[in-house]
Amino acid sequence: MKTMAEYREHFPIFKNTVYINSCSYAALSNEVENAFLEYLKDRHEVGADWINWCDRLERVRALFAKLLGAKADEIAVTTSASASLSAISSSLDFSGTRKKIITTDLAFPTEAQAWHALKKHGAEVVHVKEKNGMIDLDDLERLVDDQTLLVAVPLVCYRNGALADVPSIRNIARSAGAMILVDAYQGVGAVPIDVEQWDVDFIVGGSLKYLLSTAGVGFLYVREGLIEQSQPTQTGWFAQEDIHAMLIHDNIPARNARRFEQGTPSVPNLYAVEAGLTMILEIGVKNIRAHVAALNERLKEGVNRIGGKLMSPENPEHHGAMITIASNDEYGLVAKLAENDIIASSRDGNLRISAHFYNNNHDIDAVIGALEANKSLLA
Ligand SMILES: Cc1ncc(COP(=O)(O)O)c(C=O)c1O
Repeated sequence: MKTMAEYREHFPIFKNTVYINSCSYAALSNEVENAFLEYLKDRHEVGADWINWCDRLERVRALFAKLLGAKADEIAVTTSASASLSAISSSLDFSGTRKKIITTDLAFPTEAQAWHALKKHGAEVVHVKEKNGMIDLDDLERLVDDQTLLVAVPLVCYRNGALADVPSIRNIARSAGAMILVDAYQGVGAVPIDVEQWDVDFIVGGSLKYLLSTAGVGFLYVREGLIEQSQPTQTGWFAQEDIHAMLIHDNIPARNARRFEQGTPSVPNLYAVEAGLTMILEIGVKNIRAHVAALNERLKEGVNRIGGKLMSPENPEHHGAMITIASNDEYGLVAKLAENDIIASSRDGNLRISAHFYNNNHDIDAVIGALEANKSLLA
């Protein structure tokens, strides 16, 4: 296997910048760039290459499945995490006594919004509080009951980087017979996921962050046993059992998770996603997690040394790839870092430093140096 330093060479952005912003958008590899060019070439040379495009969709589905330890039949390839969430929310049934949906105060907006939109169907939406930046499991335990349909949690919080304890959350939800959904977007590609170990019902995410590719492709995992009883009303011809049947007098959804898809796949982006996923699988998410953990220990030590305040949990088991640092002027701080060719981002008053396998100790030291030089912008 190549070293992480060798993989870094595949990302031209590092020639000029310290790019440490994968929580927002991954750096662009030569492979993903070439994949986009291959799409354009196919358009020039073949025009409408539907057979190959459908094959590519199936290859992408298989790669997502491999990444999660799932079966390809359990994966829907969508156009965003929001589209995945909407497809799931459209399949929920409120005709029984379970009308409560539990989300968290750490939710990404789109995840919470998907449930609040269901209030018109009788959903009751409640939020688990955060405690020390993490999901408060005692509060979750207090809220979950036999009226609960679904518990939804982010794997990694987009604001502070906190990593959820999925097995404990699953046990609490399952003890009341509720379903569990994990929004894995800020973790997938940087935090190992194994659906067998997790044993949850739904996982959603997308491909533009730690999966290295592009906006326009999301995914959705649905536990096999749930698929046939799920009837998404957000649907379309690509969700049908036989896409070529061109049915207009009926709706016969696919027997697998494809029933959560809708229209024409995001064809150009599938090229890029295949290239991104291939590299992630080649390197291995466990190796990525270990590499980034070492960088983050160096970062946390440096932030503490210069008197900065970490907003992510300090325990390496309790945060994802992203580390957050309190600022009194988040946009000013991001701009100051950019003046030093360091690309990061911010949310909710915090600077977000999100390393990936392509980052190294020099990047971390550059960040710490720039933070020290701009201490007046740290809270
Ligand atoms: C945790 C999380 N969930 C969901 C989303 C939204 O994804 P999409 O724009 O693909 O719907 C994001 C985007 O940043 C995110 O960080």
